[in-house]
This record gives sequence, C-alpha cells and structure tokens, in this order.
Amino acid sequence: MNKQKWIELVKGDITTLTVDAIVNAANSSLLGGGGVDGAIHRAAGPSLLEECRAINEAQGGCPTGKAVITGAGKLPCRYVIHTVGPIWHGGARDEESLLASCYKESLALADTHHCKSLAFPNISTGVYGYPKDGAAVVAIRSIQSELPRCTNVERIVFVCFDDENYRLYLKILGNERVQL
Ligand code: APR
Repeated sequence: MNKQKWIELVKGDITTLTVDAIVNAANSSLLGGGGVDGAIHRAAGPSLLEECRAINEAQGGCPTGKAVITGAGKLPCRYVIHTVGPIWHGGARDEESLLASCYKESLALADTHHCKSLAFPNISTGVYGYPKDGAAVVAIRSIQSELPRCTNVERIVFVCFDDENYRLYLKILGNERVQL
C-alpha cells in the first residue's frame, strides 16, 4: 500500500528542526562556509567538519549536483546531507538541471538511509545567486516528481530563512502543508 506523502513549508532556521535528515547547501570542498553551511557546522560542532574532511580526503569533496551524507553531531536530526548547488552564471551553464539534481540526489540518499522526514534549505539562492523564483520552481517540481517513488521518505520540509523565499514557495504550494 502506498504511504501518504506530504510537503511542508516552514519559515526559520533549519538547524532547529527535528527531522531525520537536513540538507546542507555546501561547496565542493565540503569544508564549511557561510550562510546555511556555516549555521549547520556551528550548531553541529566539530565532529561534522571531521566527517566532511574525511570525505574530502577520500573522494576529493563533492561535485556540483551531487550529495554526500554524514552524521549530525549535536544537531537534533540524525543525518546531514551535503549537496553542492550550482553557481548562477545566467542560466546557460546547466544550472537548472544541476539544481534539480541536488534535490533528487539528496532525496535518494535520505531514502536509502531509511529517513522518513527530510528538510531542505533554498539551495543556491544565497551566495550562489540563483534567482529565487526559478529556484523555488525547480525545488518543488523535483520533489513532486521523485517523492512518490521513495520507499521510506514520507515528509519533505522546505525551510525558508527569508521572507521572499517563503512567499514564493507559499504561492506555488498554495498552503503550508500539501498532500502529494
Ligand atoms: N536555515 C535555513 N536557511 C538558511 C539559513 C538557516 N540557518 N541560513 C541561511 N539560509 C538560507 C539563505 O537565506 C538562502 O536562501 O539558505 C539559502 C542558501 O544560501 P547560502 O547558504 O548562501 O547557500 P548557496 O547560495 O547554495 O551558496 C553556497 O555558500 O556558505 C557557502 O559553503 C557554502 O560556498 C557555499 C555557498
């Protein structure tokens, strides 16, 4: 029997969420940065950076559009999935499919690790400069197409830190809680 699947929208700080996994908008070194990456590493404590450093040494970091998984240190979730969004160069450098890939690869990793709930930040819409309206469409469309295929993931939470992203997501979803 198919389980019911939900998409939720919240405004706030992703580091406070009690879900099975949160996604980090990392860079390809995985060695930390500002924005949501900085907030996640600060809240998780040094063990997260140690795990990221080990992945960096073993496989040279993480390419754009891909994702890797670690534990979550002191965070209230079980896992952090680090994905690397595209830097916006105007739209002709495959940014859209790379961003879609971030959402799909992160969801697939969460599913194989038996996560039921997964929270995403608005990948690439900060320092990486992806236009927020286009990024919201890609994020929601990617999850709507892949979530029905998941065996374990039942609940996706889109976490918007800024008002503009929150308004864009709410406009597309129509509600803070939507059943798929
Ligand atoms: N919780 C949720 N969202 C947050 C938080 C937080 N605590 N802090 C910031 N954000 C939001 C921003 O408002 C933005 O919409 O995360 C979104 C993504 O912004 P960035 O963190 O700048 O990520 P991105 O644009 O993907 O750039 C990645 O930034 O810090 C570096 O190491 C990171 O080099 C990489 C780059």
